Formats: sequence, structure tokens, C-alpha cells
Amino acid sequence: MSDEKKKQPKANLSWDGKTVEVEMLEGTEGERAFNFSRLKAETGCYAFDPAMMNTCVCRSAITYVDGEQGILRHRGYAIEDLVEHCSFIEVAYLLIHGALPTTTQRQRFSRLLNIHSMLHEDMRSFFGNYPEGAHPMAVLSAMVVSLSSFYPELRLDSDKEEIDITVTRLLSKLRTIAAFSYKKSIGEPFVYPSHRHSYCENFLNMMFCSPVSLYKADDYDVAVMNKLLILHADHEQNASTTAVRMVGSTGANLYACISAGICALWGPLHGGANQAVVEMLEKIQRDGLTPDQVVAKAKDKNDPFRLMGFGHRIYKSYDPRAKIAKQLCQAMLKKKRLNDPLLDIAQGLEERALNDVYFQERNLYPNVDFYTGLIYRAMGFPKETFTVLFALGRLPGWIAHWQEMHNDPEQKIMRPRQIYTGPGKTEYVPIEARD
Ligand code: CMC
Repeated sequence: MSDEKKKQPKANLSWDGKTVEVEMLEGTEGERAFNFSRLKAETGCYAFDPAMMNTCVCRSAITYVDGEQGILRHRGYAIEDLVEHCSFIEVAYLLIHGALPTTTQRQRFSRLLNIHSMLHEDMRSFFGNYPEGAHPMAVLSAMVVSLSSFYPELRLDSDKEEIDITVTRLLSKLRTIAAFSYKKSIGEPFVYPSHRHSYCENFLNMMFCSPVSLYKADDYDVAVMNKLLILHADHEQNASTTAVRMVGSTGANLYACISAGICALWGPLHGGANQAVVEMLEKIQRDGLTPDQVVAKAKDKNDPFRLMGFGHRIYKSYDPRAKIAKQLCQAMLKKKRLNDPLLDIAQGLEERALNDVYFQERNLYPNVDFYTGLIYRAMGFPKETFTVLFALGRLPGWIAHWQEMHNDPEQKIMRPRQIYTGPGKTEYVPIEARD
């Protein structure tokens, strides 16, 4: 046993006159956990933790979140620095490879992204078969899992070159699928990716260029798009990343795992909140509700309404991503000389809620989704594409976690248990005797 291991503190767990020692684990930043991985073997009992509110499912070196102090870091770098200084592609590289790229690595990564940006032509016809009004998240998840029938699976013993190709293929193609599904939804022809453009410029061009109107992405919009994707790039063991890890733990291929992540992200309590926030603001505007009335509705336990874009499982202070998104939103509307009444409603609601005891006692602050939808709106994205943009940003995080999981000697198939509360052994009754 190493000296380090010997020094680790232990806790005693006592019940029914018995005591077992439980090892305590400590992360880089001092966060502590009881190691319950042998709990059943040593005590005969399980740990009960619905919604995994207290459970660390792995050790991870990708992202650190301190929800009390509002800190978010990827591979040690503060989110504020990454948003200020990096492109999305550099942050994707950082998450996946563990370090920011050198100039040569960055160039190679961009080259691979360009080489793999096209979709197999046979996949084009898939888009035509979705009904009008299909939600882009439904199309995105289905198209991503379909990639597994067009492109080879990433084997777990793949060399770095193969990993790079698969990863860039996904990063690049997800962007193309996202833009194609939007074009399909508005009945316009697809715009192909071009090697002339950078990652975000390419995306904006595929979204907004059309045969009848030449489009040149505004440098400011490209810069904001980069920042928004960085804001979403990873957030440790959130619901969609856990879905990716859960499916990945069964040995399913990377495309299937990412598709599972996209489905989990879609829910309005997770990434779907960015669409839900703007829908909520529109309804408040339509119904002419005051901030007082909206906050009263959110506090009413007999009303299922919640203030969308508010609250977070981890952040018990202002979400650092929301802080950046709010500044970006204000700056963008000013730059574009846009006066969006929904921003006024959002700011009025935030002020009212933050001064309310209900929100203060529960530490409910705006989360990343509260202001991002208003930025997308100002850039011309329709509401239904907002969660697709979240998925595009989150993709490097999902890939990084998928890789980390497969290199982790502690990982096995994820298989939680339950406390069974159904009937005891019941005698079988033939159908004729059941009336
Ligand atoms: N409006 C009104 N009350 C709320 C809200 C809200 N947005 N969020 C939490 N609460 C109340 C909740 O009713 C509960 O009150 P009480 O203690 O009286 O029962 C208390 O605050 C704790 O809430 P919880 O639901 O137990 O907290 P949770 O950690 O399980 O849920 C959450 C976190 C994000 C799902 C929740 O805050 C929520 O539904 N927010 C609105 C949806 C949203 O904005 N989601 C985006 C999350 S951030 C980005 C992402 O993950 O994708």
C-alpha cells in the first residue's frame, strides 16, 4: 500500500452493533466523498440516493464546478478566460485531448474538421422523409445514430489517428446535420460546408445562406457564436453526459452514445430550457403579466409553472455562464441596435426574483439558459433550433467523457439498484379465474 493511500482518512459506519471503515476520497480542489463502491459487499446494504443528488459516479479530470462560489473550469482553465481568448475548436481540443493545441495541432484539427464536414450523400434523402414541423432535436438524434451505419465504429483499442478522425467527423458532421435539419424545416435547399470558412462561420453560412440572397457571416456574430458554444462545451456529470456514459458503459458505439446524450438534453429541465425560456417570455408578453404576477405563479405550489432558466442542481450562486451570457446578450442587442422587449421582461423578472425571499432561501439564480435564447433570437435562429445549438456546443464534452470512461480502469457497466416496493410473491391466477 502506498504512503499516499495510507494517509487517506477513513469514516466509520455503524449499524446494528457492527462498524465498518469507509475510505474517504478527496478531489484536487478538496471536495470529499465516502467511497461506497464496496458498500454492499462489506455491509450487505445499498446506498439510496434518488436522482443521484449525492452520488459521484466516477473520477474525472475534465471539468471542475464549484456551485457555492460559481466557479467553472475546464482542464484547470476558467470559463471566463476560455470565452475571452479561445475559439470553440480550441476548447473542443482542450476537452478531448487534455491540453490547448499548439499552432500545428490546431491547424491539423481544423484540416480534419474540413475534410470530414460533408455528409454521405445517401443521408440527404433521410431529411426529406421527416414531416413538416418535425422538431430539429428529433432529427438530430436520429441522424447522429444513423451515422453509425455509414461510418466505421471507433474501436476501443483505436490509435490516436483513428480517434482524431472519428471525433472530428462527429464534430464536423453534427454541425452539417444541424444546419440541414433547419433548412429542411423551412423548405430551403441545403447549403454545403466550405473549406473556406472557420467552424462557426461555416455553420452560420449553412444556416443563413440561400440561393437568392448572398450571405456573409458578420465577424461579430462569428465571435459570439464561438463564445456561446464554449459556454456549453462541458459541465461535468449533468444528465446528458451521464446518459452518454451510461450508454457507453454497455459498449455501445460512440454515435449511439451521443444520440442518447442528445435525447437527454432535449428535456425542458436540461438543454430544452433555452427554448422554454423564450416561449415563457413570449407568453408573459402576450398575456401582459407583471414580474410580480409571474413570480407569484412560480412560487405557487399548486401551479406547475416554474421560472424557466432559473435554478440549478449544482449552482447555489450565480451561474458563471449566465453572467457571461447576460453581458453578451446586452452587448449584442446594443451592437445590432435591436430593442427586444423580451430582454426587458427577462431583466425585470430576474431583478424581481432575486429580491424575493422564496428565490433567496432556495438559492435560485438565472442559469445558462436564461439569456442565451435571446442572443440566438437576435442572430436570427428560430426557437426550435436553440437546443440544437446547445447540443453542438456540448458535443466535445460528451466525447471527452466517453473517452475518459473507456480509459478508466474503475468503470464497468453502469447498473444501479432499487428498493423494491411492489407486492410480495403472488400466486399465478389463470385468465378464466380472474373476474
Ligand atoms: N422556479 C420556481 N421554483 C423553483 C425553480 C424554478 N425555476 N427551480 C427550483 N425551484 C424550487 C423547487 O420548487 C423546490 O422548492 P421546495 O424546496 O419548496 O420544494 C426548490 O426550489 C428546489 O428545487 P428542486 O426541483 O428540488 O431542484 P433540482 O436540483 O432537482 O432541480 C432544476 C434543478 C434546474 C431542474 C430546477 O431548478 C428547474 O426546474 N429549473 C427550471 C428549468 C431550467 O431552467 N433548467 C435548466 C437547467 S441549467 C442548464 C442545463 O442543465 O441544461
